[in-house]
Amino acid sequence: RILIIDFGSQVTQLIARRVREAGVYCEIVPFNAAPDVFPGYGAKGVILSGGPASVAEMGTPRAPQAVFDSGVPVLGICYGQMTMAEQLGGVVEAGHHREFGRADLSVVAPSLLFTGVWEDGSRNQVWMSHGDRITQMPPGFRIVGVSENAPFAAIADETRHYYGLMFHPEVVHTPQGGKVLSNFVRNICGCAGDWSMAAYREEAIARIRAQVGDGKVICGLSGGVDSSVAAVLIHEAIGEQLTCVFVDHGLMRKDEAHEVVNLFRGHYNIPLVHVDAADMFLSALQDVEDPEAKRKAIGRLFIDVFEEEARKIGGAGFLAQGTLYPDVIESVSFSGGPSVTIKSHHNVGGLPERMNMKLVEPLRELFKDEVRALGKELGLPDAFVGRHPFPGPGLAIRCPGAVTKEKLDILRQADAIYLDEIRKAGLYDVIWQAFAVLLPVRTVGVMGDGRTYDFVLALRAVTSVDGMTADFYPFDMNFLGRAATRIINEVRGVNRVVYDVTSKPPGTIEWE
Ligand code: XMP
Repeated sequence: RILIIDFGSQVTQLIARRVREAGVYCEIVPFNAAPDVFPGYGAKGVILSGGPASVAEMGTPRAPQAVFDSGVPVLGICYGQMTMAEQLGGVVEAGHHREFGRADLSVVAPSLLFTGVWEDGSRNQVWMSHGDRITQMPPGFRIVGVSENAPFAAIADETRHYYGLMFHPEVVHTPQGGKVLSNFVRNICGCAGDWSMAAYREEAIARIRAQVGDGKVICGLSGGVDSSVAAVLIHEAIGEQLTCVFVDHGLMRKDEAHEVVNLFRGHYNIPLVHVDAADMFLSALQDVEDPEAKRKAIGRLFIDVFEEEARKIGGAGFLAQGTLYPDVIESVSFSGGPSVTIKSHHNVGGLPERMNMKLVEPLRELFKDEVRALGKELGLPDAFVGRHPFPGPGLAIRCPGAVTKEKLDILRQADAIYLDEIRKAGLYDVIWQAFAVLLPVRTVGVMGDGRTYDFVLALRAVTSVDGMTADFYPFDMNFLGRAATRIINEVRGVNRVVYDVTSKPPGTIEWE
């Protein structure tokens, strides 16, 4: 396996994804934890990430000396290249020519790193983002690639297997970058490249059995992909020692609660407690208009109901959660200041302590797309595994203003038609998330010969990689016209449809 040392780049996670795509397991560790982690880790190679600091300044982070003493191959990217060059005896200065974005890399010497990817003498598109520059090479290194503003764009010491890249091979704007990383981890570090979801499934099952023994586990199902995959995996490991609890808050999409219950009880035969708490949630939300107040009310009630059910089941020492790797990675922060809470996210954090339960988190090492692959591996239907993300507070945050049963019913119908049209147009998998929002605004319309005075429905669709940033989806106007006509014709209570053309930032994906 490979250890990635994080110096705070925005794209460090992408290095891990590319390495795993090459069939090699890897983990990310912050630079300040690396000296403790590296010695016992058994890494066959180390990748030093980029980062916002400048090696030329005092007190900026360095790679542990133990990495260079160990003799394993090292790949430094951007800041990682600079710190490696400096630690191995080269000289780095703050750059005079900053280079950002697309650049042309000319390969000027053969290198193991580029074997089968870029030929000697070729020019290739890469993506740069850096300020520092090397002014004197460390001993043993030579230049293997240059760009217009970066005479040390790629350097190598083929004897010691040390490589430094000023560009980012991990981003999609370096089209062949994945292959370069694969060369490093497979050909240079000698990793087998046989890490797969089938292998992960076996390892994870063994770990769950070892952790849980003959204890009892409770898993809260939300209907989403993560908790479902976690539940199916845990069930495969420990069978009837697992009980799932599905707190149905009545804020799910059309038919969704049914589908979850059928899938778990019918298809997998997993013990499932279905708590129909719709009325309780609706009354807790009565007259609550403020988005944060809504989120908090739902979160509080959810925990109360879940806790009550867990008590009824009794004797469970473990709580299962579908926590993913992006939530676990301790990101390196240079800003120091507290970040602003934009929205209180709905999760069961704090619950394990309150209930004195230990956590079982079998997806902690995985990225979202890997969880989907594991779900398929476990036999979850493609349509289920490929579902768009759905927020914990459900349709309540897609009904700005006070939530009523009447409004939820209108929203559910309209949302289902919109998604149906998206599927028919073959766009479901291209779009990260699409949904309807029922506005607390009524407008005048004319249908047949009569006047209508009904709600406005907003449609939203975005593309995104991780939900952190997003672009609105540029639908064809004919598509929007078709969806709007169907919704207005088929859903009583809506007489006008609008499309949201806001990206994130400045908007968020959900409206509340
Ligand atoms: P925003 O609206 O913050 O959403 O741009 C980013 C992504 O997160 C989802 N989301 C949530 N997911 N609990 C969740 O599990 C929540 O409380 C929550 N709020 C937003 C949202 O649907 C989008 O995919």
